[in-house]
This record gives sequence, C-alpha cells and structure tokens, in this order.
Amino acid sequence: MKDKTSVMIPQEKLEARIQEVADQINKDYAGKTVHLIGILKGSVMFLAELAKRLTVPVTMDFMSVSSYGDAMESSGIVRISKDTDEGIENKDVIIVEDIVDSGRTLSYLLELLQKRKPASLKLCTLLDKPSRRVVDIKADYTCFEVEDKFVIGFGLDYLQHYRNLSYIGCVEEIGDERE
Ligand code: PRP
Repeated sequence: MKDKTSVMIPQEKLEARIQEVADQINKDYAGKTVHLIGILKGSVMFLAELAKRLTVPVTMDFMSVSSYGDAMESSGIVRISKDTDEGIENKDVIIVEDIVDSGRTLSYLLELLQKRKPASLKLCTLLDKPSRRVVDIKADYTCFEVEDKFVIGFGLDYLQHYRNLSYIGCVEEIGDERE
C-alpha cells in the first residue's frame, strides 16, 4: 500500500508567501549583499525559490548537518558533515532552513556561526512548528507556521522521498510503498 498523503499548502500559496518574504528581505537588506547559507538537504527548493526573488546582491553557500537521535527527533548533538566553503566574517548572513522543529539544530548552528563574526546573522525558515519547540529559537523570517503534522514536499522528506513535490503535503497514513 502506498502512503496516504494530502496537500497542506498548495504551490500558489507557497510561491505568493515566498515572494512576500523576499520583498521584506529586499527592503531590510537594501544596499547590502545577502549571504545565504542553505542547510542541506531540506532547504534546497526553498532557497532556490527565495533567491530567485531577491533583488539585492546575493551570494550563497551550503552546510550539511546531521543530528544524532532517531528519525523523528533531533538530539541537539549536531555533526557537521559539510561546512561552508567560504568564511562568513563581516558578511550579512541569512541561514535558510526548511523547518524549525525542536529548535535544537538551529540553536547549535546559530551559536556556531555567530562565533565566526558575521556582520549580521538571521534565520529564514519556510515552516515553523512552534508547538514542538524545546529550545527557544525564533526565526527572523517565517513563511508559514504549521501544526504538528508529518509534513513532506518542497524539500522535506519522509525516508528521503517526496522532497521533489512542488507543494507542502502531509503523510496521513504510512504505507509500505512510496510514490
Ligand atoms: C531538519 C531541518 C532542520 C532540522 C530541524 O533536517 O532541515 O535542519 O531537521 O529540526 P530541529 O528543530 O528539531 O532541530 P533533517 O535532519 O530532517 O535533514 P534534511 O534537511 O536533510 O532532511
């Protein structure tokens, strides 16, 4: 049986909201260069859609981190499997994430990157699940707050599947086969 999934945020709604957030960033960073750091892999789609809509100068880099713990919950002990290629000193950095859940990963990352002395450091997330927060992290830019459902699509996965969906969906019932 295939997983039973449903649409939570359709593509048009996602794109309209990403445009609003991009407009805000364009205003806030007028006269500056924005250095985006995408956290792999979930942020890839969002970062691409956001970056296309930025009119201020943009540079980008990527980090890959994994958190020890089971598949559903991060532990806060974060391992960097790919660091940024370039340094961030004196840059106006925006971390781009697909979701802030417990906040553990971001709490660790913000602290780590802050030590590298960027000119500024902000967090932009596509989704926020405030009900799951364990560490007090607040994103500077949030596209959507979502309830505690199993979200997939637009970069977010279930067992590495569904990242390519052009909308945010949720898994209603787990099957033994992925689409
Ligand atoms: C997700 C997400 C964040 C983290 C958030 O990544 O991209 O990095 O979990 O969870 P937290 O707030 O509870 O720390 P994931 O480990 O699923 O990796 P992926 O982006 O490669 O799917």
